[in-house]
Amino acid sequence: MSRARRRQHVPWNAAGRASETQGDGESVVRDTGWVFNNETGQQLTLAEFVNSGEQEVGAYLQYFGFLPEDNVQRSLVEIGAGIGRMTAGFTQRFKSVVACDLDAAFLERCREIVGKFGVPERLSTSHVADGKTLALPDASADMVFSYITLQHCESADALALTEEALRVVKPGGYVLLNYRTWVATDALLFPAGVITRSLWRVPTIGAWLARQRWSTRLGWQANRLAPKVVLEHLEKKNIDLLNPTLWFSHRRRIGGVEGIPQCTFIGVHGSHWWLIARRAA
Ligand SMILES: C[S@@+](CC[C@H](N)C(=O)[O-])C[C@H]1O[C@@H](n2cnc3c(N)ncnc32)[C@H](O)[C@@H]1O
Repeated sequence: MSRARRRQHVPWNAAGRASETQGDGESVVRDTGWVFNNETGQQLTLAEFVNSGEQEVGAYLQYFGFLPEDNVQRSLVEIGAGIGRMTAGFTQRFKSVVACDLDAAFLERCREIVGKFGVPERLSTSHVADGKTLALPDASADMVFSYITLQHCESADALALTEEALRVVKPGGYVLLNYRTWVATDALLFPAGVITRSLWRVPTIGAWLARQRWSTRLGWQANRLAPKVVLEHLEKKNIDLLNPTLWFSHRRRIGGVEGIPQCTFIGVHGSHWWLIARRAA
């Protein structure tokens, strides 16, 4: 594994280690909840944290056009499940859910949280040990979902995970993948992020820095990927999509790709976009 890639894993593994030492889900959410949902304050309860995921699961599935009566018959893979903020809601709606994450300790907590708020018999977990390969069989899922995760990988890993999503989804199945692209503030933020990620590797202070909210927020978005870059990558790899659609914020039109329909939804962050597509046979 390259040095650069490991550097990007530092804050997740630091939060994972912290979550191992805490007694219960409530204290994990109080101390590290913000790494999963930046809105999370220290006073937030576990129930409120899971409810934030539940609201987002409901909204995205509805806006992207995935009906409850179809979802109950579908298997879902979630890339970057964290401690299960959204996973609990997915297990309420899907026949089965595989929660995948870079950090194995998060997956332990995910099982605990789904046990309390979801349907645990529908859940299995899968560790993404190298940050770019899913340990799942080809064509094994009806849907692959990923939210606020691909932006945290090195570009090459985000593109590799995009390929992986399309490998594990069945022909005719769906991918719902969330990315971050460039915004004006990135002129400052992006270089600051590069410096911060380097500092995480400095002995002693690096480990402390990687646990600070301000430093993690500066350094955790490791890439910016425009729709054109992702779609051209898939084309180069001869991966064909059926009915691809790009979803953007209603406030901001990010450069789309000619010939691909574009939709907007109030719930999409201004710097984010989604690729919703089916895998061709
Ligand atoms: C901001 S959190 C979002 C978690 C969850 N999607 C949610 O909304 O609550 C990003 C998650 O992605 C995971 N992650 C980061 N890089 C990853 C990678 N290369 N492969 C798999 N998971 C990754 C982190 O460990 C973390 O749990």
